[in-house]
Amino acid sequence: MTRLPLALALAAVLLTGGSALADPLAPAGKWTANTRGQALTPPMGWNSWNAFHTEVDEEKVLGAAQALVDSGLAKLGYTYVNIDDGWWLKRRTSDGRMQIRTQIFPSAKVKGDSSFKPFTDRIHALGLKAGIYSDMGRNACSQRFDPHSPNLPEGMTAEREVGLYGHVDQDIDLYFRQWGFDYIKVDACGLNYYGPEEPVIKAEGYRPFPPIIDQTAINRTDIPQVRALYQSVADALVKSNPDNDYVFSLCNWGAADVRQWGHDVGNIWRTSQDITPEWTRMLHTFDSAATRALYAHPGAWNDPDMLFVGHGDFDENHLTEARSHFSLWAIINAPLIIGYDLRKAPKSLLDIWGNADIVRLNQDTGGHQAVLEYMSDDVEIFVKTLSNGDKAVAIFNRGLAPAEVALTADHLKMTGTISLTDLWSKATQNFNGETSFKVAPRETLVFEAKGARQLADGMYLSEIPGNIHVAEDGVIVPEPDPIVHRMLSPWGSSHGGGSRAAYTGWGGAQADSTPYDQNLQIDGHPFVSGIGILAGSRVEVKNDGFTRFEAQAGVDDTTQDLKDTVVFQVYGDGKLLTEARSLYGEPAKLLTADITGVKVVELVARADGRKSDLPLIVTWGNAALRK
Ligand code: GLA
Repeated sequence: MTRLPLALALAAVLLTGGSALADPLAPAGKWTANTRGQALTPPMGWNSWNAFHTEVDEEKVLGAAQALVDSGLAKLGYTYVNIDDGWWLKRRTSDGRMQIRTQIFPSAKVKGDSSFKPFTDRIHALGLKAGIYSDMGRNACSQRFDPHSPNLPEGMTAEREVGLYGHVDQDIDLYFRQWGFDYIKVDACGLNYYGPEEPVIKAEGYRPFPPIIDQTAINRTDIPQVRALYQSVADALVKSNPDNDYVFSLCNWGAADVRQWGHDVGNIWRTSQDITPEWTRMLHTFDSAATRALYAHPGAWNDPDMLFVGHGDFDENHLTEARSHFSLWAIINAPLIIGYDLRKAPKSLLDIWGNADIVRLNQDTGGHQAVLEYMSDDVEIFVKTLSNGDKAVAIFNRGLAPAEVALTADHLKMTGTISLTDLWSKATQNFNGETSFKVAPRETLVFEAKGARQLADGMYLSEIPGNIHVAEDGVIVPEPDPIVHRMLSPWGSSHGGGSRAAYTGWGGAQADSTPYDQNLQIDGHPFVSGIGILAGSRVEVKNDGFTRFEAQAGVDDTTQDLKDTVVFQVYGDGKLLTEARSLYGEPAKLLTADITGVKVVELVARADGRKSDLPLIVTWGNAALRK
């Protein structure tokens, strides 16, 4: 056993005044994922930013809301109508109450004040929900990046401090309890772009805010403070929403290691900087979320940013690209937030957002983000398990040449005759073993696959990421993720040294891959299926009625730490069921446990003592819940 003897553990707790030394790998005995807010499936709706930037107004937003209803999109689930940056006039200095720019939101004009209540009432009367936008700092993104906007906050320095900083409880109460919003997106420019040296401070007279986010240097980012600020909003949301009917969207662009902790604080968290309507930028934001399946589950979703369907490389003259963008967002359970002026949407675009079959994949109640089953820079294959056990598969040609792509039963973890329905053309076909497709440049084929699953009496854990909560992923030193596509910057062209790896999370837990995107292998034996993670990890798995846990666990052949022993422990509702020790170079150890009646299985991989600081990579090969 590697646990501390009880007396010692108690002494440690007393000495540290409570939890500081609490063993993070101790079993929780329950599912501890954040269940606050209303996001059992990824949020869907519309947001003003990609369509109008700060030139948002009431007519445009209500027009979008009406169009959602009239087009039938609302019925498909597009229910949130979200106002982004640009709505604010000032913060009233007498009492700190935020004032709306009633010039662009006329219904907000009420005697001696302003209120969005008439606006949210109208949205609600349409059967829709309303979203608002703020910033975690004192100042917003538009104040820094849109100097020519007609809709920037006005007045003295303090009046222009429209962000949440120092006003979290007051603003959240106003937005939710008093104004009736249902959704908030909280940006982070105020934590990042208002350092004392920034020209905007002098030019505009903003109060400096020493940055706690540095997007290019995680070492210069105060991760705990950024997280604590967002947590303060999460707590305020609970207070202002006794009915739990809200969505909390974190928008700090993949910085401050949010890809690791976002699921504990909010309902969606941006995994990258802003999307733009350029193909390569879409690849960039997509990649930032696409290998993070184990960090998403009902209530918590990776957010590669809002849809740009309808604009630029995704406009009505580029329907292949537009369909790809949409399909990819759908299959990785990204929020489906439309960013287009819906009052003038052509049918060709409405047919994309309105593809009920693709939306159904995204909204499947299982909440299993698709897993990357084949990866290359040219072609990728993503497979998503649906709640009825069927599969969906997306075959994505990222490049400019047509690709001949083999899809195998192994990719799908299926066997026998497999039927495929193309969810764009609706054509069907059957295959055994493998089949192949010619995929046009930038095309994504999406199929629903029916047939027998390879594991007839159960589920591989990598088939059900939505039932998994990575409580500890073992990452000690956050590292930038080099797998994310690096594009020629839409803003900076080729100035400077290039668009280098950003967004920590490299080394995080993965389905069917090691934490560093290698194939899983223990002592020369490859595993097509499994969970790849680091020692120092604890993973919670929901068990819906299976009776047996099974895995072949060991130190992965790609480990860098070749010296240390790992103890693999399997808990059922907090009770140790079985354990095994293993070292690099040893064959996988078979772990089986009776999990009859168990609600949460926990998988703990502990390093026993630590001689090396290098990553100790472990594989739960073929980990499965079985009947
Ligand atoms: C940031 C966000 C965008 C948008 C703008 C508004 O860039 O990432 O999504 O909200 O701010 O200014």
